[in-house]
Amino acid sequence: MSRRKPQSPQEKALLDKARRYMPGATLGNAPSDYDDGFIVQGGRGSRVWDFSGNEYIDYLLGSGPMLLGHAHPAVVEAVRQQLDQGSTFFLTNGAIIQLAEEICRAVPCAEMVRFTTSGTDATFQAMRLARAYRRRDLILKFEGGFHGSSDYALQSVTPTRLVDFPTPVPGSAGIPRAIGDTMLIAPFNDLDTTTAIIQAHHEKLAGVIVEPMQRILPPVPGFLEGLREVTARYGVPLIFDEVVTGFRFAYGGAQEYYGVTPDLAALGKVVGGGYPLAAVCGRAEIMRAYDASAVAGDEFIPQIGTLNGNPVAAVTGLATLAELRKAGAYQRLHATGHRLRAALLRALEQAEIPAVVSGEDTVFDVYFTDKPITTYRSTLAADGAMLKRFNRLLLDRGILKGGQKFYVSLAHTDSDLDQTIAAIKDAVGHLRG
Ligand SMILES: Cc1ncc(COP(=O)(O)O)c(C=O)c1O
Repeated sequence: MSRRKPQSPQEKALLDKARRYMPGATLGNAPSDYDDGFIVQGGRGSRVWDFSGNEYIDYLLGSGPMLLGHAHPAVVEAVRQQLDQGSTFFLTNGAIIQLAEEICRAVPCAEMVRFTTSGTDATFQAMRLARAYRRRDLILKFEGGFHGSSDYALQSVTPTRLVDFPTPVPGSAGIPRAIGDTMLIAPFNDLDTTTAIIQAHHEKLAGVIVEPMQRILPPVPGFLEGLREVTARYGVPLIFDEVVTGFRFAYGGAQEYYGVTPDLAALGKVVGGGYPLAAVCGRAEIMRAYDASAVAGDEFIPQIGTLNGNPVAAVTGLATLAELRKAGAYQRLHATGHRLRAALLRALEQAEIPAVVSGEDTVFDVYFTDKPITTYRSTLAADGAMLKRFNRLLLDRGILKGGQKFYVSLAHTDSDLDQTIAAIKDAVGHLRG
């Protein structure tokens, strides 16, 4: 198997500069598995390359948005055409209205859309909408669920201190203690406990936010349906965080894929086609809080962002969605993931390494454990050090992936998969050693 070329003087110099000017020498995003100096020079299709002359088959995909692959010709052309007409206006523009219409056509819960620039802001806005609508403060989120980097979202994301539900554990320095008083934490995939928490707190509950597939934990049968039922019973808005799943699991996202419609959804990643755009969408009755002419002064939510609804991101989103509407796109995407996921599982089984391959066909990864994985707490039993080693072995064999995610794209070819599967087999062979 080919190994990575050693770091070039150019990459070393860049890394030195990054160390000098950027905390941790990173954007804060990259898994620590790569922080010995992986600096991306460019990408095209299913491939990215670094400054040392190494090329990788990319299953990180910009952490999900690049569902068509890098520099897709239709997306590049859309940018080219838009650039001549200006890149940002702060005003409603033609392209963003078209994108709003397309989102409402595609996403079951979407009657209206408000745009943001990041998924973090979209989930933050969704929580604020629920709070404004219900005139209450408490939001229930799930342990292990990730909704971006706001003070609310960062409660109980990867807690190592396990406390009783529904008490939150802050996941970052700098979060005011008072935020914890506005959040409830429940165990994903445990409908009984979640229902009991909702029943006990429904009078003060503003909303429930959930990743329909939490990280790479699919919902157990009946979980999302039960959550829908109990939130509807108490008139509590259910928010799906579809930043990962939107336009990836299906054109209508996880709500189409799993057949459960929330009241609000946060979209990001794919909807912007790799440019900074995200959105909150949902029932008009809740979304009207953004319309000063439709609600009383104290019901109004001002939502202002310099780059929100940016026309370049709008046209790249529209170009991406147009590709996804082409016949067979989702079948191809699911088939790609299915083949890779099955091969990963087979390689681990043949090597007799205890492992669970968790997720859905378009996003998945391995937990090194022989125990079933359904909740955040069950994931703690998995061997994280082994996963880090596996990621590293794959990187050395030209396969780039996230810390705990393989994202697949429409750009991955059969020959990419052949090469990836060979690399996986070889990496698995070296895993124990
Ligand atoms: C489920 C989920 N929600 C929200 C976010 C935050 O989105 P962004 O990174 O655009 O702020 C992410 C980012 O990965 C995510 O995975």
